Amino acid sequence: MSRTIHSDDAPLLEIDNLHTHFETETGTVRAVDGISFTVDRGETVCLVGESGSGKSVTSESITRLFHSPPGKIVEGDVRFDGESVTALDESELQSIRGGRIGYVFQNPQGALNPVYTAGQQIVEAIDLHHDVSSAEARDRAIDLLDRVGIPEAATRVDDYPHEFSGGMKQRVVIAMALACEPDLLVADEPTTALDVTIQSQILDLLRELQDEMEMSILLVTHDLGVVAEIADRVVVMYGGKVMERGGVYDVFETPKHPYTRALLDCLPGRGDAMEPISGSPPDPLDPPSGCRFHPRCPHATADCRQGEQPPEVEIERGLEASCLFYQSGYDADELGDWSYEGAGGGARR
Ligand SMILES: Nc1ncnc2c1ncn2[C@@H]1O[C@H](COP(=O)(O)OP(=O)(O)OP(=O)(O)O)[C@@H](O)[C@H]1O
Ligand SMILES: [Mg+2]
Repeated sequence: MSRTIHSDDAPLLEIDNLHTHFETETGTVRAVDGISFTVDRGETVCLVGESGSGKSVTSESITRLFHSPPGKIVEGDVRFDGESVTALDESELQSIRGGRIGYVFQNPQGALNPVYTAGQQIVEAIDLHHDVSSAEARDRAIDLLDRVGIPEAATRVDDYPHEFSGGMKQRVVIAMALACEPDLLVADEPTTALDVTIQSQILDLLRELQDEMEMSILLVTHDLGVVAEIADRVVVMYGGKVMERGGVYDVFETPKHPYTRALLDCLPGRGDAMEPISGSPPDPLDPPSGCRFHPRCPHATADCRQGEQPPEVEIERGLEASCLFYQSGYDADELGDWSYEGAGGGARR
């Protein structure tokens, strides 16, 4: 199967100052409001943050999966393999979706058509993007089911979705997403609907397939345990903005943004708090001025309430945070010391 791989070291995916808004009867929902991050070839980036922070809208924005109207990319750019995809029309986007970019969502039920067998659906995904004979496509479907760990794949290929358990259904969905050997797999809460044992099996599977297929993964999750297990880098979102991003080990061991610290404090066995962050996330119809986290931040000063979200500052190599205390003229020491011995113990490296 041919695919174009650019020889340069440019990131595979570049999200650049992306703003995705929804025009609703009650006003403009600023779901994603100026975020930037990259995903390199072969790496796994996790997008984390509380419910409503804009993680799913970000992943949908890559190939404009949201309905438009009401959704619209109003500013910024998404580049995939060096080319802007924001300017592509629907038919061009369709050839990327399920082709060079595969998607896996939370609910496998919704992704599978109950009236077709697993094999028929995988064959269809292959047919859409590749010119192969039906016998070849079927063999490939069996091979994919086998690779995602479905026992007796040659028989199960003819089973209907209802004949698979929840975990097995999600494996079928992953097989469909992998049918075209995507360069990027976007997985939005792929294990949230599954029980814990199946969750870790699916994560192991993604990791194995990634090594085998050299693909990049953008994983959306609110589960920091999953992040520690699978991420190379982490992007922490809050209220449609990026609060912090960096290598998983750095972010977990010495988080810089008070929001990241608060999130990590909720993890069992971490920090003292182990309880949800008090207060509520911002209203995307009317987000607060200044830093979006200031109403819930224990360190917020009058300056944090003014103007716009502070620009991201590189604090250590590859670790950036959007917090006023790291800007020149402010004293980050006032945030106190927050580090966790043995943090990232569950992290991959
Ligand atoms: N079609 C839509 N119309 C209006 N608002 C929307 C639409 N889709 C998403 N939003 C809003 O955009 C914001 C971000 O939603 P998003 O689904 O990206 O959050 P999330 O971080 O994925 O949350 P969760 O962890 O619950 O999945 C939310 O306030 C949501 O209500
Ligand atoms: Mg979501």
